[in-house]
Amino acid sequence: MSTPTEATRRPAPPDETAAANRTWWDGEAASYYVEHGSFLGDTDFVWGPERLREEDARLLGDPAGQVVLEIGAGSGQCSRWLAAHGATVVATDLSAGMVATGVAVNAALGDRLDDGLDDGLDAATRVPFAQCDGRALPFADASFDTVFTAYGVVPFVADSDVVMAEAARVLRPGGHFVFSTTHPVRWAFPDDPGPAGLTARHSYFDRTPYVEQDDEGHATYVEHHRTVGDRVREITAAGLVLVDLVEPEWPKGHDEPWGGWSPLRGRVIPGTAIFVCHKPA
Ligand SMILES: C[S@@+](CC[C@H](N)C(=O)[O-])C[C@H]1O[C@@H](n2cnc3c(N)ncnc32)[C@H](O)[C@@H]1O
Repeated sequence: MSTPTEATRRPAPPDETAAANRTWWDGEAASYYVEHGSFLGDTDFVWGPERLREEDARLLGDPAGQVVLEIGAGSGQCSRWLAAHGATVVATDLSAGMVATGVAVNAALGDRLDDGLDDGLDAATRVPFAQCDGRALPFADASFDTVFTAYGVVPFVADSDVVMAEAARVLRPGGHFVFSTTHPVRWAFPDDPGPAGLTARHSYFDRTPYVEQDDEGHATYVEHHRTVGDRVREITAAGLVLVDLVEPEWPKGHDEPWGGWSPLRGRVIPGTAIFVCHKPA
């Protein structure tokens, strides 16, 4: 059996990327929840490692009464937070493992509610999940007020222009698509939370994907890069209007690193980019 052996930069077409990342996130689902669940919460909405909360940022507007689609939802904590604040939400993810984790969290929250252990949790916090690729959404045109993802889908597909087009398709005119992702500037730096992560080692302009592969050369994990300008062009090509690009600063008093995101680096270079897009009415 093949084992992951190598990280490299090489072309990774859409199908190879999707297959590798689906398997990778299936395998990673349980440990991702164990490692990051307490940071993210079960009914909370954090946009990225800088811990910018939707409660403070309000990038989606007032959730009450909105019909919302989350893509790349992981275990669905952002969707639960929106549901608890009055939105009708569906949480989706490519990975069966991630969806299963989300459904298990729903059940655990439901048990706490049924046992009377958590009076503060409304039954609405148990959100529905669907397994689907963010590039092929099984929803009708113009069926959502808002589509969003916090670090889902976008860097894990070869054809992120298709993600933008699908989000635009299922949004009603006047709706919003908001997504956070690794800040494009980070591509030039090693993924190291310490001082080594402060020196650029790679070209920001080199779009060759980052690929982890097994000893037979099969991709096991892939990330794709776009420059800021590439993202703007993808967004506008989908018929959306970019209304803001939020670059959260690392706040004082937050000393919890997340992989290569750390207080040291966060004070010097941006770690997260949040693109706020609007579909014209
Ligand atoms: C870094 S995790 C973020 C999960 C969640 N949004 C959060 O904040 O915890 C990335 C997620 O994107 C999902 N994903 C990757 N490629 C996808 C695709 N093509 N369509 C839908 N989801 C995808 C993964 O399965 C994973 O759950």
